[in-house]
Amino acid sequence: MARRIHTLAGYIHEYQRSVLNPDDFWSQIAETFHWRKRWDKVLEWEFETPSVKWFLNGKLNITDNIFERFLYTKGDKPAIIWEPNDPEEPHKVISYKELYKQTCQFANALKAQGIQKGDRIIIYMPMVPEAAVAMLACARIGAVHSVVFAGFSANSLSDRINDCSAKMVLTSDGNFRGAKTIPIKDVVDEALESTSSVEKVIVYERTKTPVNMVPGRDIWWHDAIDGISTENTAETMDSEDMLFILYTSGSTGKPKGIVHTTGGYMVYTYYTFKNVFQYRDEDIYWCTADIGWITGHSYIVYGPMLNGATTLMFEGVPTHPHPGRFWEIVDKFKVNQFYTAPTAIRALEAFGNEPLQPYKLDSLKVLGTVGEPINEEAWHWYHDHVGKGRCPIVDTWWQTETGGILISPLAGITPTKPAYATLPLPGVQPIIVDNDGNELKGNSVEGNLCIKFPWPGMLRTTYGDHERCRQTYFSQYKGLYFTGDGVKRDEDGYYRILGRVDDVINVSGHRMGTAEVENAINEHPKVIESAVVGYPHPIKGQGIYAYAICDLSDRSEENLKKEIRLTVSKIIGPIAKPDKIQIVPGLPKTRSGKIMRRILRKIAVGEVDNFGDISTLLDPDVVEKIIEGKDTAS
Ligand code: WT7
Repeated sequence: MARRIHTLAGYIHEYQRSVLNPDDFWSQIAETFHWRKRWDKVLEWEFETPSVKWFLNGKLNITDNIFERFLYTKGDKPAIIWEPNDPEEPHKVISYKELYKQTCQFANALKAQGIQKGDRIIIYMPMVPEAAVAMLACARIGAVHSVVFAGFSANSLSDRINDCSAKMVLTSDGNFRGAKTIPIKDVVDEALESTSSVEKVIVYERTKTPVNMVPGRDIWWHDAIDGISTENTAETMDSEDMLFILYTSGSTGKPKGIVHTTGGYMVYTYYTFKNVFQYRDEDIYWCTADIGWITGHSYIVYGPMLNGATTLMFEGVPTHPHPGRFWEIVDKFKVNQFYTAPTAIRALEAFGNEPLQPYKLDSLKVLGTVGEPINEEAWHWYHDHVGKGRCPIVDTWWQTETGGILISPLAGITPTKPAYATLPLPGVQPIIVDNDGNELKGNSVEGNLCIKFPWPGMLRTTYGDHERCRQTYFSQYKGLYFTGDGVKRDEDGYYRILGRVDDVINVSGHRMGTAEVENAINEHPKVIESAVVGYPHPIKGQGIYAYAICDLSDRSEENLKKEIRLTVSKIIGPIAKPDKIQIVPGLPKTRSGKIMRRILRKIAVGEVDNFGDISTLLDPDVVEKIIEGKDTAS
């Protein structure tokens, strides 16, 4: 096992080493893994095309490094503690040995259903241990998993299936979410009406919701593993073989499939988990994310398991059946590291301190946050009332594209500052540039956050469209990876993430492209044109504010807004529903037809003067009309 950083001086030393000699730095960490063949070269890269390769020609399997590596020392250690949605239902504890068996068995079952190395498999499942088994089984046989959050609509699901020509979908009969049961197999059925690549669907029985099993296509999970061997030798993978695809929204068009590969991702998630959370062997670690997001991939499944950690998986939601549910679980399992999102913190804070009263929370050692900038208020509440002032907060900044955490304190080591992600992890070289791409050197500067040197966990491409990867991340500023985030480096050299500088809205830590939401709104036959912006929302961080030009001749405004929300729900999923819709007579556009979002953003927050130069607008009067109608937004 690689050494853990213990002190601030140790961090500074490791950081310098990682910059001066990245090859040595990363190969020393990589050496602690089991490779079937050692790499020939640590790194080959250029950020023009771009082309990034780590641990070239190394051969390995990531699940070997979770299971075979730990079987003798950690076989009986709990790998997963699973807490169901309903507190009355018994929890499950699954040891490394047991998880290994289930993974091998399901890997064999996938093969028996015709899956081969390189095939793409969509996982559209609830938060049950079998979802982790599914991911690991894919990795075991070299199939590429693409987990789709089970709250996405049939339309979003079929887009993703089609984009990667998935051969199989893994799902369940239903999904328990708080008081609701969502029939997700029906969603899969609907999605498959507009796809042709899927040959088989494996259905895990969870809710006993009646489903329609299509003969020859659909098979129950328990039937698929019936009589199947629990022994399996993992496929040999190249370092740069694809491990998974995860779709994420950008500022234009449809979501793109972010591609992560095997060797670098393994080394990076292992190293960052160990150091950021300062995980120790007996600790119980809990990340509340869903496996449908990158956080669930890197810090529920791969990062913790590569460290032989005990990772808690929770099926439910923070407020069901009561707003103390998270704290109840912390006490029940004596959770030591707790990792959640600012939106959850704010939502729970809104219930006051009473829901915390019955619980001791004295097992907690480290608190984490991720997904969006955390406001100072929420940071203090988390620190004082959840952590009782005892626990360092790791504000971890990263992205689907980065694979793992890039800027974050190391728990208990890096002095924290409320709302600051603090300092880059070893191996991470941030650079701040102005809009023309000039580097802003020194401290007390603010600009666009880029990274100038590769790290092992970074994306390699966007599935099926490398040019899109280049365009989106590597073309804005020559020779740099552009994150899309604004950042400040303060007088101490600490980084504070200021939020997106592109047309991306961060709603409850979920990334929404404005163009994607607009396209969905425009699908409603009575919508002529729309423009979407983000605005500050007390719980969600940002809410979605939609301006729409509509034909109101045959329905009320209220009904039309309802229908628009339904349309968005159907096309993307409920998470993309606009919080506010304002029906407008026109949109502010430049003479070349570009919507001036800057103005719409200001109106949404009630700043109705000081628009700057609007003389280039096609129809300046329209701004006045939108301001007048602002109170009709609902
Ligand atoms: C965007 C990435 C990384 C997993 C969750 C979201 C924002 C993320 C922080 C943080 C401020 C943050 C950024 C980033 N973000 N973490 N600690 N402080 N902002 O993954 O959907 O890929 O979104 O989330 O804007 O670009 P994602």
